[in-house]
Amino acid sequence: MKILVTGGAGFIGSNFVYFMLKKHPDYDIVVLDKLTYAGNLSTLEEAMKNPHFKFVKGDITDRPFVYKLFEEEKFDKVVNFAAESHVDRSILEPEVFLMTNVMGTQVLLDATLKFGVARYHQVSTDEVYGDLPLDRPDLFFSEDTPIHTSSPYSASKAGADLLVQAYNRTFNAPVTISRCSNNYGPYHFPEKLIPLMIINALHGKSLPVYGEGLNIRDWLYVEDHCSAIDLIIHDGRIGEVYNIGGHNEMRNIDVVKLIIKELGKSEDLITYVTDRKGHDLRYAINPEKIHNELGWLPETKFADGIKKTIQWYLDNEDWWQNIISGEYTEYYDKMYTNR
Ligand code: NAD
Ligand code: TYD
Repeated sequence: MKILVTGGAGFIGSNFVYFMLKKHPDYDIVVLDKLTYAGNLSTLEEAMKNPHFKFVKGDITDRPFVYKLFEEEKFDKVVNFAAESHVDRSILEPEVFLMTNVMGTQVLLDATLKFGVARYHQVSTDEVYGDLPLDRPDLFFSEDTPIHTSSPYSASKAGADLLVQAYNRTFNAPVTISRCSNNYGPYHFPEKLIPLMIINALHGKSLPVYGEGLNIRDWLYVEDHCSAIDLIIHDGRIGEVYNIGGHNEMRNIDVVKLIIKELGKSEDLITYVTDRKGHDLRYAINPEKIHNELGWLPETKFADGIKKTIQWYLDNEDWWQNIISGEYTEYYDKMYTNR
């Protein structure tokens, strides 16, 4: 079994690589990654030592390059994590989101058909469903919830999902899609809420909470996301969408306060800043379908997962110090100074 993992030098993709090398030691895993600001080769250092692992630098929008790779490697399955993934960046610069997330997906789908790949899996997000109101805790996203996007990021992910479904209907492409809620865990790029708050708190820097911090996200430990994808690419039904979520809804402010408490810092670090444009209020997944069909359940409780995550950032300072000393500083100033 040979699996192509695109975007495998990013947060979830790299966690998936480590999950698969451990769970299926006889599988060959090839990572294709452009190494954008969010991709980090040092993340894959351990994987590089494994003879069943190979890294290839390249862009999923580069059709000749992708075709050559598919021709040479003869993949059995493709799992597409490669994407521009940060909502705030999509508000600053939408174009690259459309290029990578939509056009890149199309190139991978064409390659899947041309070279007879048995399964193409699209890693998508609950953000394609838009948001839910804060005063209706009884509502959840199901696979039938209409697509209704708020940000250029979610619009580009939704565009990709529609393309994947169209390729299935029109060309019989052997596809599956998963739509997951917010992940957290090791190797999470510091621009996202949880790692940003951990790292700022460690530095005694202010903790920028958008609006009043009342927006709700449904947090899932990244390993649980990986186990769900593993099940889907083996036993999921072709043409189907599977929602993945942890039934772990939390207000942003409560996540931030928990991190402060775990690190023994002061809540005085919290600074309420101008809200994100178009800020989605609440995400909440109904994961019944994947539970009923594939027996998936999340294993890590948030209280444990956040402790493990904080410990990982404490133990791996080199990893994130390297990142925050580069392009990240420029982005941080643009996003947060005078906000
Ligand atoms: P990430 O930003 O950490 O990683 C993305 C990776 O893709 C990086 O390694 C980057 O170098 C690579 N990449 C970007 N453009 C590329 C291109 N044109 N060609 C090849 N590689 C390219 O993202 P993540 O948080 O790991 O998310 C992975 C996937 O999961 C994305 O598709 C995202 O939409 C989806 N997702 C993320 C979350 C979350 O909470 N992070 C939740 C649900 C779904
Ligand atoms: P984020 O990690 O960017 O994920 P997403 O927007 O895809 O859900 O943000 C999670 C939540 O945290 C979201 O409601 C925005 C909020 N947030 C802040 O309040 N401050 C910050 O500095 C960041 C990055 C996010």
